Amino acid sequence: DKAQQDALKKAAGIEAAKLIENGMIAGLGTGSTVKFLVDELGRRHQEEGLEFTGVTTSRRTQAQAESYGIKIVDVDDVDHIDITIDGADEVDSNFNGIKGGGAALLWEKIVAINSNKIVWIVDESKVVDTIGKFPLPVEVIPFGAGHVIKKLEAKGYNPVLRLDADGKEVRTDENNFVVDLHLEKIEHPTDLAEDLINMVGVVEHGLFLNMVDKVIVGDPNGPRVMTN
Ligand code: A5P
Repeated sequence: DKAQQDALKKAAGIEAAKLIENGMIAGLGTGSTVKFLVDELGRRHQEEGLEFTGVTTSRRTQAQAESYGIKIVDVDDVDHIDITIDGADEVDSNFNGIKGGGAALLWEKIVAINSNKIVWIVDESKVVDTIGKFPLPVEVIPFGAGHVIKKLEAKGYNPVLRLDADGKEVRTDENNFVVDLHLEKIEHPTDLAEDLINMVGVVEHGLFLNMVDKVIVGDPNGPRVMTN
């Protein structure tokens, strides 16, 4: 149930917080699992004097981190990022993952590729044999989005424009739309990634292929680590 899942997310978040040391530049991801990470980093900043600089992957995470007094800077204001800790929606044993359930995939990917080390924190339900059951998020420019969706349909990708509770298009931090591809199974993620990124109007997709160095999995027996 949700309380049990939250406990696993929290355990993974607290474990990952141990990777942040004084003086580091740390990328901070987005989502309900990262929220626990930021809570713990905020506690360590306030109670233990941990000092580090954060680069956030969404306005939401920035607001949460700054509420603890954690110093946040823009990604272009740093020349490197020591480590980025983020959540994920699915990950397989080849370290291919899906991200973007929280619509932050574009900034997440930009921060990730500029990081020396990438760590994901997930609960055990997200470790899968084949990715794709979780709908794959694709960030699309609003202008002409209807045509992009038709082209995705024609390719058999089962696209659904993401709407909020009021039926309005969800907007990313870059003011774009999110289209979720209901694929069930992604057998050839590299081919799919290439096909999507070459479509005009597509800004980015949520396939993060073999980018992650370490996955900390919240497990009922305690957090376990998958190392790439
Ligand atoms: C945000 O866009 C996503 O990539 C999140 O990292 C991912 O959806 C995991 O979120 P949860 O920790 O809330 O499941």
